[in-house]
Amino acid sequence: MASSAADNYLLGRDKTEADRLRDQHHITLRNLGYAIHPRIQAQLPPNARVADVATGTGVWALHVAQVLPNTTDIVAFDISPAQFPSTKPHNVTFTVADAKKPFPQVHHGTFDLVHIRALIAAMQTPDWETVMRNVVQLLKPEGFVMWGEGDLSRLRCLRSSEEYVSFSTLPKLLRTFEAAMRARTSDGITRLSEAAEAQLENVEMDVTSTDRLWDTRVPFTRMVVTGMLAWAEHSKAWPPEELEEMRKGVASDLDNGAYIRADVLVLIGQRPQDLV
Ligand SMILES: C[S@@+](CC[C@H](N)C(=O)[O-])C[C@H]1O[C@@H](n2cnc3c(N)ncnc32)[C@H](O)[C@@H]1O
Repeated sequence: MASSAADNYLLGRDKTEADRLRDQHHITLRNLGYAIHPRIQAQLPPNARVADVATGTGVWALHVAQVLPNTTDIVAFDISPAQFPSTKPHNVTFTVADAKKPFPQVHHGTFDLVHIRALIAAMQTPDWETVMRNVVQLLKPEGFVMWGEGDLSRLRCLRSSEEYVSFSTLPKLLRTFEAAMRARTSDGITRLSEAAEAQLENVEMDVTSTDRLWDTRVPFTRMVVTGMLAWAEHSKAWPPEELEEMRKGVASDLDNGAYIRADVLVLIGQRPQDLV
């Protein structure tokens, strides 16, 4: 199946990116301490319908298929089928859909939970309200949204060493990436909160820091650096020779103890009985 014309994934859809999404999933799970927010998991019926919007490789959908009863029906949507897995459990379906457009009517009002994660890089300012509206349309009354994002507009390059070391290249890569992200959505996390407050009830935000567990600092940093370098290559942020120099400089900063920190936010809320 062809992907939609609106598809312009910034990181490519090769094996490196699939591996990066797998690592991101495991690091995020450790950092948060849950795959499904505990308030939601406690209320899911055994025959729940669960959607994963912008599923990518489906790593979250396949994970929760193992955790939830096998009577759960899981539908994983993405704008592109390029990373859909070749094998899957019987109760998981993968299907192409653009979250910026209304989902097919057959799915409206049918889900107990819609999960979204790491869509921020594909969002522009007006999209938050639109995607939230389309997602809410998928839910049964009082069904839950769980939307997780890393705040890509406020990444920090920090040092783990006791003694002072200055870093030459990683801060430059971060600043260039942040500027490109801000040009797309000036304050995505605020927009996400506003869209939730306007369209959901019982909204709650769980905020953690990616360096909360010290042993995930290095894997998180390597995962983010892989993503940013893939972005730099795809977006031609620098000529190839300069990019090669950046790679070397970043590797040296990492060897000298640089690490990246970001806020991770999980927003949850419920569809009101009557849609506005
Ligand atoms: C960074 S990946 C995250 C994948 C997955 N949610 C995860 O956490 O592993 C972002 C995904 O969003 C998808 N995407 C981008 N724009 C989309 C849209 N308008 N509708 C649906 N999916 C979209 C991309 O194709 C990609 O698979």
